[in-house]
Amino acid sequence: MEAASSHPGCSVTTVGRPDLSLERPETIAAVLRSQRPDVVINAAAFTNVDRAESEPDRAYEVNRDGAAHVAAMAEALHVPFLQISTDYVFSGSAIEPYSEKDPVAPQNVYGTSKLAGEQAVLAAHSTPLIIRTSWVFSPFGSNFVKTILRLACERDRLRVVSDQRGCPTSALDLADAILRIVPPIRDREPHPNLLHLSGSGDATWFDLACRTVEQALPSPARRPPLDPITTAEYPLPARRPVDSRLNCTAFAAHFGFKLRQWTEAVDDVVRRLL
Ligand SMILES: NC(=O)c1ccc[n+]([C@@H]2O[C@H](COP(=O)([O-])OP(=O)(O)OC[C@H]3O[C@@H](n4cnc5c(N)ncnc54)[C@H](OP(=O)(O)O)[C@@H]3O)[C@@H](O)[C@H]2O)c1
Repeated sequence: MEAASSHPGCSVTTVGRPDLSLERPETIAAVLRSQRPDVVINAAAFTNVDRAESEPDRAYEVNRDGAAHVAAMAEALHVPFLQISTDYVFSGSAIEPYSEKDPVAPQNVYGTSKLAGEQAVLAAHSTPLIIRTSWVFSPFGSNFVKTILRLACERDRLRVVSDQRGCPTSALDLADAILRIVPPIRDREPHPNLLHLSGSGDATWFDLACRTVEQALPSPARRPPLDPITTAEYPLPARRPVDSRLNCTAFAAHFGFKLRQWTEAVDDVVRRLL
């Protein structure tokens, strides 16, 4: 269990393995009973999209059953509950950014298991807030921006997929936004059960890679050239949605703010990493 940190309006305690494992419901009950939080946020998931194809049982155990256990425990303790979900619940064949009302049709095991998690959470908790986000990057853990920065230092040339489109989202911006909406949720102000929240603007992976490298290496002479390639040229076990842009106007209408442009957020994260 991590030490608590304070933010205006709330203090945060983060818990993870081994103290709390989504595959061990007894640990969820023990932690929530001892911590007695005002709001529970489940950001944990089986997130390896390609590995989920060969380990579907584990993906469902964590993303559906684990989420359901946390939601049910929060309900039993009469505590508001927030679940993080994904743009990968959509097929990616739409021509407009997806709204919360659009039909879901996941293309891979990860997306299907996260969608099952959404449904399980809605069944287990009376007033959950499910937030779907997308293309998350940050200075921490492993993510696309960090991988591109590493490869830009290691390789003479980079090939990056340019035919998938989404909304890149800084985990820092997402965390700030979530902390900003915790007080009204804690105070049980009415809210929709499902909202989309991503960085403003949209991009392909190629766009995101270019911005990352340009911010890290301002001198063109020092940058490795980036080549746009198709998804077919970079085969992976899991199918990805071609266009999973999220329409975040419902979140802005309800809470009165939106996340900044992804380009600014990338610049910030790269500056922190450097
Ligand atoms: N990354 C994206 O682009 C993206 C896009 C849309 C939505 N999301 C959603 O955003 C949330 C956070 O994703 P992320 O990218 O930050 O993922 P991440 O870096 O892979 O982090 C996942 C976290 O979940 C924890 N976890 C995994 N299995 C667990 C289990 N059985 N019990 C307890 N904790 C477990 C991991 O703990 P360990 O450190 O112990 O492994 C890790 O801390 C997830 O709900 C994901 O579905 C992510």
